Amino acid sequence: MKVMLVAGARPNFAKVACILDALDKFNQSSDRPIVPFLVHTGQHYDDQMSDAFFRDLAMAKPDVDLGVGSASHAQQTAEIMRRFEPVLFQERPDVVLVVGDVNSTVACSLVASKAVYPCAVRNSERPGPLVAHVEAGLRSFDRSMPEEINRVLTDALSDLLFITEKSAAENLTREGIAKEKIYFVGNTMVDTLLKHREKANDSKILCQLGLNGGPPLSSGRDSQNKQCRDYGILTLHRPSNVDGRETFQEILESLAVVAKEIPIFFPVHPRTLNRIKEFGFERYFTSVAHGAWRMAHSAELLALNSQPLTPVSRPQLSTLASELPAPCSLLSLSSDSCSLPARIYCLPPLGYLDFLCLMSNARLVLTDSGGIQEETTVLGIPCVTLRENTERPVTMTQGSNVLAGTKREEIIRHALGKLHDPVQPRTPELWDGRAGERIVKILAKLA
Ligand code: UD1
Repeated sequence: MKVMLVAGARPNFAKVACILDALDKFNQSSDRPIVPFLVHTGQHYDDQMSDAFFRDLAMAKPDVDLGVGSASHAQQTAEIMRRFEPVLFQERPDVVLVVGDVNSTVACSLVASKAVYPCAVRNSERPGPLVAHVEAGLRSFDRSMPEEINRVLTDALSDLLFITEKSAAENLTREGIAKEKIYFVGNTMVDTLLKHREKANDSKILCQLGLNGGPPLSSGRDSQNKQCRDYGILTLHRPSNVDGRETFQEILESLAVVAKEIPIFFPVHPRTLNRIKEFGFERYFTSVAHGAWRMAHSAELLALNSQPLTPVSRPQLSTLASELPAPCSLLSLSSDSCSLPARIYCLPPLGYLDFLCLMSNARLVLTDSGGIQEETTVLGIPCVTLRENTERPVTMTQGSNVLAGTKREEIIRHALGKLHDPVQPRTPELWDGRAGERIVKILAKLA
């Protein structure tokens, strides 16, 4: 049996990595191997958005790279379909396995679901591939998100729907999808996180940012046990947050206030960097006096993307630490509070291990990413989601996540609240590192 796995954008790589591992393990002990074939659509293509993940996750190079690159939704989706179809017909897999909710996911599932292999030579061969969707059934109920459209369509086209949380099964059955197609397997992203957690401890990122050792910058409940300074992390890339000037500005102004209490490190997604340049928002990012992470000239950040991280010297960060004001409260916020320089330090996009290390040691994570809501849940790191909704409700009911939306008061209230009321790590059902194994077991039964 042959399984064609599709990955295209950054979060996909971590999801397929553990399935490839599980296939490898299965094949070592099975006399009916499942042959994997990895297609990279090339939706993400920069070293830091793609290759770095293959290196960090020790993944073999993809069997095929479609090299589609960036374009509008319609152009990108169409180009992926156009380039994927001949590969599909040449390889004739029994199953096409897609992950997540990106354009590559919907494009390849659409091609695969309509494919009928010309003159199926072997009697045993299926007329076309089955479509398997990993991370099926998640719904934000917000059709303005391109990902929501991708999720709904991919699920409607899929034969096997692998879900990460029980709410997904309810969503799918409500949409008329037969129960027999739905498999609750756990979370592949969590498999990969648990596998790489220890390795991520070897990352040099804390040293490079001057965060290793020394007293915590603020006095949280758990700060005496920490081996590094307190800091927050920010990730932002949703079109609804960064493509509109007003929303993006309100988020940045709110974060400027939060950053007065705790320094925030911000690995900047290429989409977001483009918007920062376009809107002239460089002023929201502190130039560490003559430091490496200046945003004043975004060209510097672009240059950093292709270079190894340049360390910020310890003295620079120590100076910053001593300059930090006493913890501010909502009441003490004055109207001009945002005119103070924000202590938000921009970084290039980070590889998987560096980001995992930075996230594991953070005091607070602010994000609009879906995957990071799940990862912080497992790590027990307080997560403030800068969105009005989440398609991953289990991260709120059983995890460390809170929805803050994109309005100033709520962002500040939730961020400061989480800083002073840390959470205990909890593990949602089946987020135990064995999702890949369960998926492979189900695939093996099809052989
Ligand atoms: C895509 C996914 C999103 C996912 C995110 C993870 C869709 C609809 N969106 O959003 O669900 O959370 O990936 O990062 O599939 N760019 C580069 N280098 C790259 C990739 C992108 O410079 O390697 C720039 C390009 O200018 C591009 C922009 O980033 O136009 C946006 O990239 P795109 O793939 O269109 O969407 P993402 O915002 O990355």
